[in-house]
Amino acid sequence: MKRTFLIVAALMMFVPMTALASGSSVHLKDAEVSMDQETLRRGLTVFTDVCMGCHSAKYITYQGLMDYPEIGLSREAVDELRGDKALMSGLISELSPEDATESYGKVPPDLSLVVPGRRGGADYVYSLLTGYAHDKSGKVEDGNYNMYFPGNAIAMPDPLAWLDHEADETAELEAQAKDVASFLAFIGDPHQEFRRSLGAGVVGFLLFLTFILYLLKREIWKDVH
Ligand code: HEC
Repeated sequence: MKRTFLIVAALMMFVPMTALASGSSVHLKDAEVSMDQETLRRGLTVFTDVCMGCHSAKYITYQGLMDYPEIGLSREAVDELRGDKALMSGLISELSPEDATESYGKVPPDLSLVVPGRRGGADYVYSLLTGYAHDKSGKVEDGNYNMYFPGNAIAMPDPLAWLDHEADETAELEAQAKDVASFLAFIGDPHQEFRRSLGAGVVGFLLFLTFILYLLKREIWKDVH
């Protein structure tokens, strides 16, 4: 009985690992994620100008674009961006699920949590956006063949027009893809910088405490030989 249980438990640990491993045949490109304000603002612009044609990011509000110092937009900039949408509204695409299904056969997923939710995170997003290619077997139409999408046939039409771009546009398109990947990494975990600095503060405090305790110990033990 006990042994059966152990075998089942071992199998259950093994199966998801192999399932994951089989999806990683292509090596992802490094998105060089940056939480620099300029990068995040450029990424936001790519998001609102391009991606929001189809995708929402419902967990980040217009208010958030002002409140998170990492983005820190002015009230005027936010007002311009949101039009008549409420400050507390998320970044919601105008594309209705019905129209999306009709045009692409699928509802584009909300991108708020796509970086924490996908294996490879921001590297996957960056690779995906710059991963459109011609299908050598000719089965998948141009604009829907992606080297990084599981199964290669993606319902998202090449959003940055990467396929067959001019050589002198490569750097610009890569930069756009990296910037938006950084932006999505940020909104997927907007408190990461705070946690990091909190962590540094805690470590600093512990070092300080260690030093004080050391002095205390020396003081207490100084007459004992
Ligand atoms: C013309 C509509 C459209 C635009 C514009 C668009 N997407 Fe998509 N996107 C889709 C659709 C449809 C899917 C679903 C693909 C599928 O599951 O086959 C998708 C899926 C995705 C996925 C998930 C892939 C996965 O692993 O499931 C990511 C990430 C993504 N898009 C990022 C972006 C980013 C970033 C932008 C802006 C640069 C963008 N998309 C612009 C339609 C669009």
